[in-house]
Amino acid sequence: MPELSQRQMGDDGYSDSLRTLLRNATKDAHHRIDHHPLVAPLVRHGLTAAQYGNALLALFALHAPLEKAFSTFLSIPEYSPPPRSSLLAEDLSSLGRQADLTNLPLALLWSGHGIATPSEYVGMRYVIEGSAMGAKFIRAQLKTTLPEGCRTITRFFDGYPGDGDWRALWQFAATQGSFNHVDAAAAAIRLFTDIEDLFDRHFELYCRPETAL
Ligand code: HEM
Repeated sequence: MPELSQRQMGDDGYSDSLRTLLRNATKDAHHRIDHHPLVAPLVRHGLTAAQYGNALLALFALHAPLEKAFSTFLSIPEYSPPPRSSLLAEDLSSLGRQADLTNLPLALLWSGHGIATPSEYVGMRYVIEGSAMGAKFIRAQLKTTLPEGCRTITRFFDGYPGDGDWRALWQFAATQGSFNHVDAAAAAIRLFTDIEDLFDRHFELYCRPETAL
């Protein structure tokens, strides 16, 4: 992968190049995620309340520990990710899945690699802030795919109002003098791999026909 020059730091070219690099590096991993049987039903007709709740539970299991990891590494308020896990918890509660939330086994929470450097932080935040694009797409589909009684239970998918968090991420990256884009890409790929693994475990426990709740 080519080095980004210091001259590019802080201008639009920097974020465009870095974003393109991260997108290309994670393209295959994203494809596996958006076709995963846990979340693929979100954009298909026939989505059930149970399938929707299972997907939200897995997203909660990802976002809640990751939000802590992000704020432990960097506690600058303007760069903090929004607390999306609390929106997921409210949606799950409205769906009647409070008990699953309360009893979520620790083994079903994301517990991937900690964040060691600003480059890894940016790579991992890219996966989460970039998922806002997927969330907007999914939100539009949910208007017709969700059973009618659940169509207002979309706090999480409604919770991506603008692109402020996306911009803040690139601003933060631009301020990091020793930024290493290879490390950022590796961290992004690793997080997608963790997500696939997490989704597999949730699917196994909650969605297989013989075990589905
Ligand atoms: C059913 C599940 C999903 C669908 C249908 C979906 C769909 C999409 C779509 C339509 C885009 C915009 C692509 C573009 O503008 O070219 C996108 C972008 C993205 N999604 Fe997903 N997504 C899903 C799940 C996820 C998940 C679970 C994550 C990670 C937590 C994720 C991470 C990303 C990222 C990082 C991008 C930005 C790629 C870029 O840099 O342009 N997606 N997704």
